[in-house]
Amino acid sequence: MSVRVIVGGQWGDEGKGKVIDSLSEGMDVVVRPQGGANAGHTVIFEDKKIVLHLIPSGILHDGVLNIIGNGVVLEPENILSEIAEVNKYRKITNNLAISDACHIVMPYHKRLDKLNETLKGNDKIGTTGRGIGPCYSDKIARNGIRMSDLIDPVRFRKRLEAVLPFVNRLLVDIFNQTPEDVDSIIEYMSPLAQQLKPFVCDTVSLIHKNLAAGKNFLCEGAQGTFLDIDFGTYPYVTSSNCFSGGISTGSGVPPTAIKEVCGITKAYITRVGEGPFPTELFDEDGKQLAKVGHEFGATTGRPRRCGWFDAVLGLYSTRINGLTEIALTKLDVLSGFKVVKICVAYQYQGKRYDVFPNSLEILENLTPIYEELPGWTEDITGVRKFEDLPLNAQKYIKRLEELIQVPAKIISVAPDRTAIITR
Ligand code: IMP
Repeated sequence: MSVRVIVGGQWGDEGKGKVIDSLSEGMDVVVRPQGGANAGHTVIFEDKKIVLHLIPSGILHDGVLNIIGNGVVLEPENILSEIAEVNKYRKITNNLAISDACHIVMPYHKRLDKLNETLKGNDKIGTTGRGIGPCYSDKIARNGIRMSDLIDPVRFRKRLEAVLPFVNRLLVDIFNQTPEDVDSIIEYMSPLAQQLKPFVCDTVSLIHKNLAAGKNFLCEGAQGTFLDIDFGTYPYVTSSNCFSGGISTGSGVPPTAIKEVCGITKAYITRVGEGPFPTELFDEDGKQLAKVGHEFGATTGRPRRCGWFDAVLGLYSTRINGLTEIALTKLDVLSGFKVVKICVAYQYQGKRYDVFPNSLEILENLTPIYEELPGWTEDITGVRKFEDLPLNAQKYIKRLEELIQVPAKIISVAPDRTAIITR
């Protein structure tokens, strides 16, 4: 039995989809523990681009059981259309299981997400508008609706009658909007619930049955460490635990079962939405990274902000995630730069910071301290051995490894599934 965990090491969009997809081969069970349709994994399957938001990418491989854990928030219509999309390529049978404890993203969560953002004005988070924050807020406030409620018509009505008064006070009194109504919600959601029912089960028992049988697990975290509700750049974060700790709370896979934690880390760095970004570039270098790296969000299509690799953030990720390795992605995007820069520390009001600070005041006003390395011009997309990379690319990787204190065992050099160097 082995349990391998994959987490985003930066602000999401590190190219997890591809790494997860290639690692799914040889795995028996793939588990998704948190987040919702705010995530988007692009995977290439038989030359077709498929964007998965909720279903683990193991669904495209034979003989892999895919589990959506209790920590995920699900919008029924969304997951059903994703199931229909995957069915076009591979028929989903008993290889998908959805936790009966997942919280449901209700139609009013999406309304509230947008209303909250509008009310915040300049302080908006830049959410994906998928109702994620309001759904997790209701979960924590104990006003949520879980999958086990949704698929049981009697309980669903009872729960709605209990929670809608709160929702409607918000909608009507705070936001001056029309209220929600129990019967309309039931009418819209009941047929969806019945379609989802065959996939729903007690996934904790299913996970433990497979752990006991010695199966190989891949647990795929969504988003990235610095969007984590506890360790990210609060309040510019998502509403779940995207670092490795979220794997256990979101699935029931015990921490002691986890042996390997791989941080997916871009060779530079990007961010979508608002919030501090110490190494963000506003010059031609930033434009080149965005253009060559095709940096547009998989879920919202928004252009991503781009910057140089930040080793302060990288080391923090190694520490809190307990990384045993990183997968360094999109190295090819750096080909053609005369000089590549790595941020090795921050400076704020004359003081040097080697450890990622929590303070938004520092994060928003610091100056990055860079180390400059010579770049390379060669096309590396066909390289499959570390020793065949240009010497300067090898030096860049070795320096990153030194700074963030973890080996880059996987290096991705092009979008294709096979364009990977393993060490
Ligand atoms: P929310 O998760 O929709 O509430 O958005 C909160 C913040 O997290 C925003 O800045 C989003 O752009 C960001 N975010 C959420 N999911 C992802 C993701 O999968 N990749 C990158 N950024 C994300």
